[in-house]
Amino acid sequence: MPLHKGNLSALKFFTAENANSYDRLVNAATFGQDNVWKKQIANNVKKSKIILDLGCGTGILSTTLQKVNNLGVVYGLDLKFEYLQVALAKRNDIPLLNATAEALPFKDEAFDSVVASYVPKYTHVDKMIDECLRVLKKKGILVLHDFTYPAIRVIRMIWKSYFVLLKLISNIVRSWKDVFIELDYLIEESRWVIECMNILNAKGMESVNCTHHTLGTAAIVVAHKK
Ligand SMILES: C[S@@+](CC[C@H](N)C(=O)[O-])C[C@H]1O[C@@H](n2cnc3c(N)ncnc32)[C@H](O)[C@@H]1O
Repeated sequence: MPLHKGNLSALKFFTAENANSYDRLVNAATFGQDNVWKKQIANNVKKSKIILDLGCGTGILSTTLQKVNNLGVVYGLDLKFEYLQVALAKRNDIPLLNATAEALPFKDEAFDSVVASYVPKYTHVDKMIDECLRVLKKKGILVLHDFTYPAIRVIRMIWKSYFVLLKLISNIVRSWKDVFIELDYLIEESRWVIECMNILNAKGMESVNCTHHTLGTAAIVVAHKK
């Protein structure tokens, strides 16, 4: 399978050098909004018994899901082994798999829900969605979350200024240099919301819905399988 541009960014961005600082970085860089967004994702799937956290990274969302839904089982899956190692060191009660979102190593209709936080822009969305729908049970819920390029002009200016600041900081925080330098272009170019909505509607998913968050800097797409 040819690698998507986002796949190449993910391989470059998430490394053994920055895996241990990821949790602190994402909380600080989003001014704590990461926690708010993750709670909103988790609220959508609180009745699910078996959940897949796609692109789980260091397991922040997997842990939130387990707290919100303490009767459920959460599986984590990620491309980067080094990130899974951090997740494993924090919690050894979450089954973790090293695999790619575009070819899931699970049987059909295995999960009540699939959630993915900051993952869509790194994936080949049509292949990723095909796989999510295959592993979801009937009536299963798919929740996709990621950053978005703000639509309002003044917010865009603030957003761009923030990335200028991050690029300056990248001279000091070397392990995050590639991310700070390239993430804004990736977000600006990504059409993940519209692509996902179109694919989900075309595949006959029910009540496909998108909510925009934090001044249009992030979005959550939710869809239900018939
Ligand atoms: C920004 S991190 C987010 C981690 C976690 N979801 C969170 O919210 O904290 C993005 C993660 O997605 C993973 N990833 C990116 N593309 C992927 C793919 N095609 N398949 C599986 N994991 C992927 C990366 O390895 C990385 O750990």
